[in-house]
Amino acid sequence: MHHFHYTNGVLHCEEVAIPEIAAAVGTPFYLYSAATLTQHFRAFDGAFADMPHQTCFAVKSCSNIAILRLFASLGGGADIVSGGELYRALAAGVDPGKIVYSGVGKSAEEIRAALAAGILMLNVESVQELGAIQAVAAELKVQAPVSFRVNPDVDPKTHAYISTGLAKNKFGIPIEEAVQVYLTAREMQNISIIGVSCHIGSQLTEVSPFVESLRKVKRFIGRLAEKGITISILDLGGGLGIRYHQETPPQPAEYAAAIKKEMQGLNCTLILEPGRVLVGNAGILVTKVLYIKAGTKKFIIVDAGMNDLARPSLYGAHHGMLLANREEAATEEADVVGPICETGDFLAREKEVPAARRGDLLAVMSAGAYGFSMSSNYNSRPRVAEVLAHGAEFHVIRARETCEQLVQGETIPEFLKAK
Ligand code: LLP
Repeated sequence: MHHFHYTNGVLHCEEVAIPEIAAAVGTPFYLYSAATLTQHFRAFDGAFADMPHQTCFAVKSCSNIAILRLFASLGGGADIVSGGELYRALAAGVDPGKIVYSGVGKSAEEIRAALAAGILMLNVESVQELGAIQAVAAELKVQAPVSFRVNPDVDPKTHAYISTGLAKNKFGIPIEEAVQVYLTAREMQNISIIGVSCHIGSQLTEVSPFVESLRKVKRFIGRLAEKGITISILDLGGGLGIRYHQETPPQPAEYAAAIKKEMQGLNCTLILEPGRVLVGNAGILVTKVLYIKAGTKKFIIVDAGMNDLARPSLYGAHHGMLLANREEAATEEADVVGPICETGDFLAREKEVPAARRGDLLAVMSAGAYGFSMSSNYNSRPRVAEVLAHGAEFHVIRARETCEQLVQGETIPEFLKAK
């Protein structure tokens, strides 16, 4: 369910006509619906209402501080993976006690910032990282709350680049070796063991891999209990998929029901780290058709490129398309391409897309997750604006970058100036 719909032949986000936003902020831009974000959060979080839990939004999927604030205002926390994401979460007003820190390569500076902020826990991914956390915690004279991310070796049946819970993936500690790591941690003075975490991948369209990994984690918690180690938090990560095209992912209620059933008898608070399922279908990328090349093959050249939305180029991902300035039922096979100097620069390749004309506004759907947050300045393209619609209002939540910002921080050394 989302709030992008046609009214009088024009695509609207909530009650705002998208061409009006384009006229005010220019193109391209990302556009999010506050009502959709709210509805998705409530549907997901509400599905776990009858058990102790905390929903920690995966900041990497959509990092704008306005969106982090929106989720925080609904009771959400944050799943972060860098010092930059910690900074964003705190700037947005997320309660540090609801922040979990994942990722295989946390630096000492990042660990220090996280401990100083008093976050809920660090999800540790290796013995060496544990040593680094112990050292920083000792220096700060604090106890570092940790969980260990275990790798359950479960196939999430998703794109290879976003599978994380297979033994061959770089993530987590192999579940068979992890008891030993907990025993090592127990001996460390500044480490407080509180949890176990696992995240097996993204864009999962079935419940069974989640259940399979949860069962393995449950058995693992039992093995820890035999050693006298009590776990109070189980972090199941994120990964629930959405419909981009013809996928039929489980609804949050179905996903929650399966998980709650497995959680019975475990005396743990459940942490969830959803990203895509909350924001994916709550955001679109609006781009303008610059030119049409209609030779043997049709190319629709738009003003957004792979630097603005990397998913089609990177994963061959499908994003639906609609015209925003008029309702167009006719479709045609075409490539929708950007201005970047690479053949891989496409938003759609040999797909049925709306029959577009020069000057049309094209809405690239389901772009709220891993859209803006993965965008870059490649080809020295300023990053686009982000806009949040709220009823009949819209707000620019990130201004379009300027060329001055592109060269900010760059300097020409003296020896070159002399020439
Ligand atoms: N927790 C951890 C530890 C993660 O690594 C991720 C995503 C999440 C939670 C959130 O997963 P989600 O609920 O969004 O599936 N760029 C790719 C997706 C990369 C996902 C990385 N990790 C894409 O555009 O499809």
